[in-house]
Amino acid sequence: MNPGDLAVDCVRSLSPYVPGKPIEELERELGVKNIVKLASNENPFGPSPCAIAAMHAALADAWLYPDGSGHQLKHKLAARLGVAVDQITLGNGSNDVLVLIADAFLQPGLEAVYSQYAFAVYPIVVQAVGAQGVVTPALGAESAMPLGHDLDAMRRAITPQTRVVFVANPNNPTGTWAPADDLRRFVKSVPPHVIVVLDEAYFEYAGGLDIQNGISWLADFPNLVVVRTFSKAWGLAGLRVGYGVSHPSVAAMLNRVRQAFNVSSVALAGAAAALDDEAHVSKAVSIAVAERQRVARELCALGTRTIPTAGNFLLIHAGPGATRHFEALLRAGIIVRPVANYQLPEYLRVTLGTVEQNDRFLSAWRQLLIA
Ligand SMILES: Cc1ncc(COP(=O)(O)O)c(C=O)c1O
Repeated sequence: MNPGDLAVDCVRSLSPYVPGKPIEELERELGVKNIVKLASNENPFGPSPCAIAAMHAALADAWLYPDGSGHQLKHKLAARLGVAVDQITLGNGSNDVLVLIADAFLQPGLEAVYSQYAFAVYPIVVQAVGAQGVVTPALGAESAMPLGHDLDAMRRAITPQTRVVFVANPNNPTGTWAPADDLRRFVKSVPPHVIVVLDEAYFEYAGGLDIQNGISWLADFPNLVVVRTFSKAWGLAGLRVGYGVSHPSVAAMLNRVRQAFNVSSVALAGAAAALDDEAHVSKAVSIAVAERQRVARELCALGTRTIPTAGNFLLIHAGPGATRHFEALLRAGIIVRPVANYQLPEYLRVTLGTVEQNDRFLSAWRQLLIA
């Protein structure tokens, strides 16, 4: 017996998260240079110069523990979002907030509902605390939102044992979203013994699509928790800062299980300063929104089907040769994301990069199709 076998059952049977392939790993493995990573829905324009300057300045004080209450960042977020400071929970990435929700609201005997093809972290956080994940079938290929969340099925899956329901809007890896009216009807129909987690990691990329700002519903639905991140539109994925906005009593519970210093001092400073540079984010978002239309159009012209997306990425139907295509793209120095771990073996997820990076992907894809 290995000492690892002593881990609790629910952890031993857990499938770990599969991250995108790092650039250095591809360099090491294939000796490829000039690599483009379109695998983790990062923002290719990076952080605002304001954030970089603030992080540099914060380094000198790195010997001090961070402000565990995140005072400055929470106050800036509260003012920006029009909520009270005690509604905000800061996380080491929004992933951390998802962990805190599971820690605080789930345990063996309780259930959490999420859709097939929903973000891979939901089953992990649910299973890690010994709760039961209940997966509802996604919308079918004939739907206007193929592979998207079936909110009616999710509602029907709620039982007296359900304590949390996870809705990613838009969802990763599909990019699909729920029209605002449908989503409101769903949230309204969820009984009060269930916490509704509305994961808005890609909220900023709405770009005119019918994407609800869940924070404006918090006053109507006290059981709602909206989760957002600095990792995507704000270009700070490596810094690890996200947040939840909820009823103060929910935030108080998340705070009980939160590590006292879960967000570093450099991260707090960088995220707070990033909020001062709206123009930087708007530029990155408008390029991503324009590129998702252009790249989808060009793929369609090549006969490659894509799923409707409201994120900074496209889920493309690569067919039975998806793994072969993924590997050929690697050899061409382009890292995309296979999604076989989502039971979508015929698809690849491609993050929208700069115009030049997307052109490189498109030209490599064209080559693959004629090879
Ligand atoms: C839907 C969704 N939620 C949450 C996250 C977690 O992001 P982070 O922990 O970097 O905030 C991601 C990351 O890809 C995501 O796609």
